[in-house]
Amino acid sequence: MQYEYIELIVEENVGRLTLDRPEKRNAIVPELALEVTDALERIEDDVRAVVLEGKGSAFCAGMDLEKRFYETRQEGPRAFYEAGRKTGTMFTTLFDYNRPVVAKIDGWTFGAGYCLQAVCDFAITTEESVFGLSEINFGIIPGGGAMWAAVNTMNRRKALYYTSTGESFTGAEAEEIGAVTEAVPEDDLDDAVENLVNSLVEKNPVAMQFNTAVLERVRYMDFHEALDYERGKSEEMKYYQQDEWVDEGIGQFKEREYKPGLEAYDEQSEESS
Ligand code: COA
Repeated sequence: MQYEYIELIVEENVGRLTLDRPEKRNAIVPELALEVTDALERIEDDVRAVVLEGKGSAFCAGMDLEKRFYETRQEGPRAFYEAGRKTGTMFTTLFDYNRPVVAKIDGWTFGAGYCLQAVCDFAITTEESVFGLSEINFGIIPGGGAMWAAVNTMNRRKALYYTSTGESFTGAEAEEIGAVTEAVPEDDLDDAVENLVNSLVEKNPVAMQFNTAVLERVRYMDFHEALDYERGKSEEMKYYQQDEWVDEGIGQFKEREYKPGLEAYDEQSEESS
């Protein structure tokens, strides 16, 4: 697939995906969603982490209000439904992705753009970026995942407040309410993202993959269910990684080669990547 709305670079073992529609603040049209999904699927086996960002002054200004909403509404129910389905597939692909995805946010982040960052595993933003669940301002509710994004990245009071008022908030405020992983001064954004990526890529990739998937599931379980589920998934993970954890992770500890409380073991096996 030729990309018109995104840029994709794979540098060593990191995928760098940039929404490339700055003149429209990286607003999402179905084609952009298809390209993001295609790019993620294409690089999944080759990378250990992905950074998703937006070109220009926006991370993503949400759904394209004209092309996605107005025009497909004129085309009819099927066109409207299909456009939504393509964006949904981009979101679920990100949410279920086997590699950690870091949203790098420097600018406007609204509506579906808010959902886009929320389905990434991590979000690092500049303090000055502006976020909003603005749907109420044009007469609808956050749909297509954005309501879920609100209640899963901030508490109920804040989610109700921001979805009901459409009021925007800064990156610094987003960090305070737990809506992003971290907010940093603009000059520190590159370093903050790269430090996180470097930490992620040096961990056992199979453990990394299972960590996110299991965490998302056990959030909705009671303790007994979670205990059983975690035990089962842990064994599945250990089998999949061919017991590298015990051979290397514990093995190197036995040799006193590192302190697991402070750092990761030195990955030896090429096969584990
Ligand atoms: N859908 C379609 N077009 C959009 C868009 C969106 N979500 N967001 C921005 N654009 C377009 C503008 O219409 C404008 O197009 P034009 O040059 O043809 O006039 C262009 O992008 C630049 O936008 P502009 O408003 O001039 O930029 P700005 O930097 O002054 O303001 C925003 C940026 C994001 C505050 C403003 O564009 C905005 O409010 N966008 C809508 C955000 C929103 O509510 N999104 C939720 C959707 S689910």
